[in-house]
Amino acid sequence: MKTITLGKSSLPSSRLAYGCWRIAETEDAGRTTGRAAILAAIEAGYTLFDHADIYGKSRAEAAFGAVLRETPALRQQMLIATKCGIRFAGEPTPDAPFRYDFSAEHIIRACEGSLRRLAVETIDLYQLHRPDWLMDPHEVVAAFEQLRRQGKVREFGVSNFQPSQVALLQKACPFPLVVNQVEVSLAHLDCFQDGTLDQCQAEQITPLAWSPLAGGKLAEGARRLLPWQENYRVDAIVTELDAQAQSFGVARGTLALAWLLKHPAGIVPIVGSTQPEKIRAATQADQLHLSREQWYRLLEAARGERLP
Ligand SMILES: NC(=O)c1ccc[n+]([C@@H]2O[C@H](COP(=O)([O-])OP(=O)(O)OC[C@H]3O[C@@H](n4cnc5c(N)ncnc54)[C@H](OP(=O)(O)O)[C@@H]3O)[C@@H](O)[C@H]2O)c1
Repeated sequence: MKTITLGKSSLPSSRLAYGCWRIAETEDAGRTTGRAAILAAIEAGYTLFDHADIYGKSRAEAAFGAVLRETPALRQQMLIATKCGIRFAGEPTPDAPFRYDFSAEHIIRACEGSLRRLAVETIDLYQLHRPDWLMDPHEVVAAFEQLRRQGKVREFGVSNFQPSQVALLQKACPFPLVVNQVEVSLAHLDCFQDGTLDQCQAEQITPLAWSPLAGGKLAEGARRLLPWQENYRVDAIVTELDAQAQSFGVARGTLALAWLLKHPAGIVPIVGSTQPEKIRAATQADQLHLSREQWYRLLEAARGERLP
């Protein structure tokens, strides 16, 4: 697979990342299908692996850690990204609500938990999962600096941040934030118009695209969607994808990933399938070259109307 440097860092990533959200819905799945998916992704050339402390209630990081314990040499050929900041209801006290928490104490404790589960000494990319309404940028940066000084994290990024929130945190942070991980796909175009991708290009921040296939709706179908994704209307997009995919000789999902790769911001789609054959098929996306006309035909199908 081709590579791309993440933001202003020196971290070289595969052009597509592999997302571990769905690899361990149960402990058993983590040991079986999850393990097979991780090994298939490594074999297929993915080098950036995306996690969060909460994926599968921490089972995803644990399943990944088990693979690394089994074959420690794999660590050398990959970048490990994970996230913190979302806290479930009932933790640590029964009356605690679902919330976001960027307190220094929580960031540091969450990072140490991830390091333990992933069985690594350093996280390559540590991301804040969803903007905390109570974010104090100086407190966040103090936590980042401590984690960096201790060698626990190499680079930092954010996820689901608005451009103004990225600017606010970056203003307080002495080193560059290297990614903003956001939902972007043919079924969800907000980032093209709300300044997110413009900021990424202007500031050399790599956009990581989550749900690049709208949870499966743009490909062979969804297993589990986030609530708002249920409402995505994709019929016209799928029709246009099918027409073009046939001429490229690829699956429609692969073409939907190639559509993201063409954008000059250097979008890195995070592939979320747990099926080895789909994980492999997705890698063909970085060999496809859509013309401007093909790209805009898909955009028109996604918008449901001609551009003004
Ligand atoms: N930062 C955030 O807030 C956030 C939120 C959500 C996700 N993420 C990250 O983004 C990653 C990807 O998200 P996602 O899983 O929603 O991505 P996605 O690629 O949009 O959806 C993957 C789902 O689509 C199905 N699918 C059907 N056909 C497919 C095909 N041809 N190729 C690939 N998948 C196909 C998969 O099922 P099968 O397994 O059966 O193939 C899987 O359930 C996650 O793993 C996570 O790392 C981040």
